[in-house]
Amino acid sequence: MFKHALVALLQANVPGLPEHRIANIFRPLATPGASEKNIALLTLAITGVIFVVVAGLIVYTMIRFRRKPGEDEHQEPPQVYGSNQIEVAWTVIPILIVFVLIGVSARVIAGVQNASPPPSTTKVTLVGHQWWWEVEYPQFKVHTANEIHVPVSRNGNDATYLTLESADVIHSFWMPQLAGKMDLIPNRQNFTWIDPSEPGIYFGNCAEYCGTQHANMLLRVIAQEPADFDKWAAAEAKPAVDDPGVSADRAVYQSLSCVNCHTIRGTPSIGQFGPDLTHLMSRDNIGAGVLTNTPDHLRAWVNDPQVIKPGCLMPSMKLTDKELDQVVAYLETLK
Ligand code: CUA
Repeated sequence: MFKHALVALLQANVPGLPEHRIANIFRPLATPGASEKNIALLTLAITGVIFVVVAGLIVYTMIRFRRKPGEDEHQEPPQVYGSNQIEVAWTVIPILIVFVLIGVSARVIAGVQNASPPPSTTKVTLVGHQWWWEVEYPQFKVHTANEIHVPVSRNGNDATYLTLESADVIHSFWMPQLAGKMDLIPNRQNFTWIDPSEPGIYFGNCAEYCGTQHANMLLRVIAQEPADFDKWAAAEAKPAVDDPGVSADRAVYQSLSCVNCHTIRGTPSIGQFGPDLTHLMSRDNIGAGVLTNTPDHLRAWVNDPQVIKPGCLMPSMKLTDKELDQVVAYLETLK
């Protein structure tokens, strides 16, 4: 299954957008990520100095106080007890270091958490599920999954504010180049925000173990020019395409229990448990990043999701080959 995820990552492609594949926290491309990078560097610098001092003293002591030829091997070195200077030094210095790190971290956390959304903010509600991400844009009446489209932010405008919730267990939102981890906790709301400064596709994942398919809970942020984002949101807000060419295929889909779990807006399919499929074809991936969204992959997924993502909540519907073809033919029209 790891291979599937890897293949999906390697093949992902939205034409015209660069891909920020290396999820490197030291190359942040958003404000929260940049302030967190600074704490990381400060912490590395302080701990680096501690390492050099401690390791240096150990090496110095090992060389300087080696037993020399001719010395009595049972003789103990001089024992030092009750040195106030030494004890004060090794108590006070670490306390000061700890307080500096706490202070700096608290300041950055408060800075990220207390930032007030600018009026032009895009609001997203992100709901963690075992094992996929529900993405809702209340302003635009858009419902999608696993791929968060956002406008690219220039000069701090157009930031995207995320309300984080969970439908089942604790998950964690983590987009390494954009913002540090923030948990999605059942029965509470957490908040974070991202303002990607460069267009492109950013990769992230669930960062809190949430069950067997935790590793296949991939998330991507697609940062677009504001005009492209508006176009995307307008298209997503429309009801599903009603293609008369697949009316027989649609009837097959609607006769199956797929409708109990998935919503296709504008049709009788109004289930809430699984991802919204209204514009399934606008997504690069299926199964939260486990496969690229191609007709073959979609067919394999509908045939038996348990082969591709064992333990996921979608069962094999045991469809005949003909039914499979028809369901996939219908889904392929949901642009
Ligand atoms: Cu969701 Cu780990």
